[in-house]
Amino acid sequence: MQKMEDGSKRNRMTCHLLFCVCTAAIGSLQFGYNIGVINAPYKKIQAFFKNASLERYGQAMDDCTVSNLWSFAVAVFSAGGMVSSVFVGALVNKFGRTKSMLLSNTLALIGGALMGLASACRSYEMVILGRLVIGLFCGLYTGLTPMYVGELAPTAQRGAFGTLHQLAIVIGILIAQILGLEVLLGSEYLWPLLLGLTALPAVLQSVMLIFCSESPRYLLINLKQEEEARRILVLLRGQEDVEDDIREMKEEADKLNQEQKVSIPELFRNPIYRQPIIIAIVMNVSQQFSGINAVFYYSTQIFKSSGVSEPIYATIGTGIINTVFTVVSLFLVERAGRRTLQMFGLGGMAICALVMTIVLQLVLDPCAPQEDLCAAPVVCNGTVAVTSDASSKTPVISYVAILAVFGFVASFEIGPGPIPWFIATELFAQDARPAAVAVGGCSNWISNFLVAMFFPMLQRACGPYVFIIFLVLLLFFLLFTYFRVPETKGRTFEDIASGFAKAASSAPANPAPLEGGDTLPVSPTTEKVPM
Ligand code: GLC
Repeated sequence: MQKMEDGSKRNRMTCHLLFCVCTAAIGSLQFGYNIGVINAPYKKIQAFFKNASLERYGQAMDDCTVSNLWSFAVAVFSAGGMVSSVFVGALVNKFGRTKSMLLSNTLALIGGALMGLASACRSYEMVILGRLVIGLFCGLYTGLTPMYVGELAPTAQRGAFGTLHQLAIVIGILIAQILGLEVLLGSEYLWPLLLGLTALPAVLQSVMLIFCSESPRYLLINLKQEEEARRILVLLRGQEDVEDDIREMKEEADKLNQEQKVSIPELFRNPIYRQPIIIAIVMNVSQQFSGINAVFYYSTQIFKSSGVSEPIYATIGTGIINTVFTVVSLFLVERAGRRTLQMFGLGGMAICALVMTIVLQLVLDPCAPQEDLCAAPVVCNGTVAVTSDASSKTPVISYVAILAVFGFVASFEIGPGPIPWFIATELFAQDARPAAVAVGGCSNWISNFLVAMFFPMLQRACGPYVFIIFLVLLLFFLLFTYFRVPETKGRTFEDIASGFAKAASSAPANPAPLEGGDTLPVSPTTEKVPM
C-alpha cells in the first residue's frame, strides 16, 4: 500500500483500488493489442487471403483485390468501434459498470476465436468478421475503462488514474509489435495464434472482475444503495471514514435531474451540456486528427528512407517512446494539469510536424516504388522504379527525421493521447456522463476511421507535404484548448458540472458555442496535489 497524498487519508492508494483499475485496464490493453497486431504480419495474412481464394475458386485473387480486401479488414475494426461506442451509455445504465465489462468480454472471445481459427478453416472472411467483432469490443472499452476508473479514483488523482487507460493501450500496442516479430508469432504459421491471443486476457479479466467492486457512484447515485456504496468505499479507500466521499456524491445526486438519465440528443439541446460536450468532441477529434496514426503508418517509410535495415525494430523503438512518455504524463497530469499538458503536447506535435515536412521533402526518394499495390507504378527517368536507394541519403537529415517522429509521438503521449479519453468522464456529472462518454468515444472512432480511410489518398496527392494538413489542424486544436478548455485538475465532478451550468445560465440564450466572448467555467483548484 502506498500513500500518495500527505495529510489527507482520502487519497490513499489501496491494493483493492489498484486491483480494480488494473482489471479494467486489461480491456484497454486489448484495444492497444488489436491496433498494433496487424502491422507486422500483414504480408503473411495477405498471402493467406490469396492462397485461400486459390484453393476455393481455383484462381488466386490479384494483388490489388488482396490489398483492397486487406484495407477493408483494417477499416472494419474502426467501423465496429464506431457502432458499439454509441451503446456504452445504454449498457452501463442498464447493467452497471462491472457487469457491462463482463458482458463485453463475450465479444473478445468470439472475435479471438474467429481470427484464431480462420487459417484452420481456410476462410479469410473469418479474419474480416473477427476484426469487426473485436472492433465492437474495443469500442465498448474506450468508454468502459475511463468511466469506471474515473468513478473509482480519488479526486486528487483522477487524472493520473485516467492516464492508465492510454498507458494500457500503448503497452498493448508494444506487446503486439514485439509478439508480431517473425521469430515470435508473426510467422506464416503462427499469425492466427497472434490474432487469436486476444481471447486470453478476456478470460483473465472475466475471472478478475468477479473480485472487483461496482462503482460506488453508480450504487449511490443511480441505485440509491448508500450502505453498499459506503462498504465499497471503505474497501477502496482503506479507511472507515469515507464520509467526505459520501457527502460529495449525495450533493451531486441532489442536484441531478429526477430521471437521472440524460439522452444523447439532450446533450446538444440543453445549454448546460452544450459547452462541455463540444469540448469532449473536439478533444477526441484532436487525438486522431493530430495525425498520430498517420505517423505510425508513415514511420516505417521514414525509417526505410533513412537507411535503417530493419525498420521493424525502429518501429518498436517508436512503441517504446510511446510507452515511456505515457508514464511521464501519468506523473505530470496532476501537477501541470490537463489543459497545460494538452497545449504543450499539441504545440510539440506541431513543431515536429513542421520538421518532418521539411526533412521528408529532402529525404524521400521520388523514384522509390509505390507500396500501394493498387497505385500506378512510379515511372522515374523513363523506367519503372523497382528499388529505392536508401543508403545514398545524408545520415544527418535522416536522423533528424527519426528524431522528429520520436518527438511527435512523445508530445502526443504527454497530453493529446491520454487526456481526451477521460475528459468526458470529468466534464459531466453522473446523470449525463454515460451519454457524454458515448459521444466522446464515438467521435474518436469516427475520426480514427476517417484518417485511416483518407490518409493514404492524401499522401498520394500531397506527398511529404501531407503533414502540413496536420500542422494546421494541430494549431487549431491548440487555440481551441487555450480559449475553450477549463482546467479540471483537483476539482470534483459536481464542481466542474456546476461551473458549466453557471456559465450557461449567465450566457445569452442559445449562444454560438464556438464564438469568442463566452466565459470559461474555470474555478480554482480545490486540492493541492503533491505527487
Ligand atoms: C490513442 C489513439 C490510438 C493510437 C494510440 C497511439 O490510444 O486512440 O488511435 O493508435 O493512441 O498510442
